[in-house]
Amino acid sequence: MASLIVVGSQWGDEGKGKITDYLASQADMVLRCQGGSNAGHTIVVNGKKHALHLVPSGIFNPDTICVVGNGVVLDLGIVLLEIKKLQEQGISTKNLVISEKAHIIMPYHFTMDDYQESLKGDKKIGTTRRGIGPAYMDKVARQGIRLMDLLAWQPFLEKLDYNLNEKNEIFRRAGLPVIEGEIKERLIADFAVYREQITPYVGETIYLVNEALEAGQKLLFEGAQGSMLDLDHGTYPFVTSSNTVAAGSCSGVGIGPTRIDKILGIAKAYSTRVGEGPFPTELTGEAGDNLRNLGNEFGVTTGRSRRVGWFDSVVVRYSALVNGMTHLCVTKLDILDTLPEIKICTGYSRTGVILKKMPSTLEELAKCKPIYETMPGWLADTSGCRRFEDLPENAQKYILRLEELCGLPVAMVAVGADREQIIVRQSMF
Ligand code: GDP
Ligand code: IMO
Ligand code: MG
Repeated sequence: MASLIVVGSQWGDEGKGKITDYLASQADMVLRCQGGSNAGHTIVVNGKKHALHLVPSGIFNPDTICVVGNGVVLDLGIVLLEIKKLQEQGISTKNLVISEKAHIIMPYHFTMDDYQESLKGDKKIGTTRRGIGPAYMDKVARQGIRLMDLLAWQPFLEKLDYNLNEKNEIFRRAGLPVIEGEIKERLIADFAVYREQITPYVGETIYLVNEALEAGQKLLFEGAQGSMLDLDHGTYPFVTSSNTVAAGSCSGVGIGPTRIDKILGIAKAYSTRVGEGPFPTELTGEAGDNLRNLGNEFGVTTGRSRRVGWFDSVVVRYSALVNGMTHLCVTKLDILDTLPEIKICTGYSRTGVILKKMPSTLEELAKCKPIYETMPGWLADTSGCRRFEDLPENAQKYILRLEELCGLPVAMVAVGADREQIIVRQSMF
């Protein structure tokens, strides 16, 4: 048995896709367990860039089985488009299996997402507007529509009617377009097409996954979002609507926690965040623009500028705790190559009191000022380094200091977007 969870340790976009793709060559199965097309994972293979939202990043390895688990909320339009694009590029999707228990994101979930954001005004979350929250709301309210309903068709129509009654009432009150008459007929016709196209990929995944574990196969779980966006453990309410921490991987595919061997936290060598919410080490102004441009920090899913800041070890230590991380992987080290000085947040100061732990309320967090330690930069190109010893001395010291502050071994360091641009200090499988 060998199972490894890859999880984001900050606010998402840490490079989970790249690391998953790299590790997938050693795995038999790669699994997405939660979230939906709010995720945007970039993979660069032989200089060619691919952006995935729902298909697991293991798809570029022809022998790897790729599973989309029950915990994912599925935008059928997006997943089908992704499949088509992959096929057009000669990448086989024959090993893709999607759980029949996965919930479907419906057109009214997009309207609800927009509507809820607009009601919040300046307290908006800054969602990706992909209908994620409203789809999970219906799941929790036990009125969601699952893939199995679509395949059976009659349950789909019945559940659609129930949901449209409810949503149309809200839309009517809000002065938003209702889904009835011709619009409803078109929706049904679209889903009839989706049904036909998705059917070959839908399967019963619980036994598939557990039997793979029993057979001693290597399973790689690809996290989406980051731990600070976790519904329970993140900076609520500025979070996403699923459990992004490692535990969510188990419920999201139907395996027990005893099955997990290692949990690899992915952390950028600095920090980024998209959307609203607290970000203690955020850099604004020129310094922020500079780091954003160096790191090309613009979202894969929405194209929004990512907020940027220094590495926050309070955040990553907290993430290590709530995930039970066993190892860390530091990505985008190369982005810091030209900086003369690099800061690391070692703790927070709250009215003179030094905190090493994450405060649980946003009000407390807002009062915290980061305490920085400044390290000299290395002012050298790290993108060609393939062994830890190849890194400039100051870059090695930076990684070792992160290791010390986060209390975890740094097993891998990424020094570029390409699959090959990686330093492996410790094998994960
Ligand atoms: P994910 O959502 O965690 O998979 O991360 P994203 O793909 O949204 O964002 C990470 C971005 O950084 C992508 O554009 C990657 O191609 C890129 N990337 C990943 N690792 C590295 C690295 O080590 N160096 C550089 N320069 N880019 C990287
Ligand atoms: P990957 O997997 C970065 C953020 C949104 C918003 C909040 C809630 O690429 O790391 P949602 O649409 O989920 O209801 O939005 O969560 N968010 C992400 N930020 N990377 C992601 O995924 C994200 N998925 C959601 O920006 O602040
Ligand atoms: Mg991303």
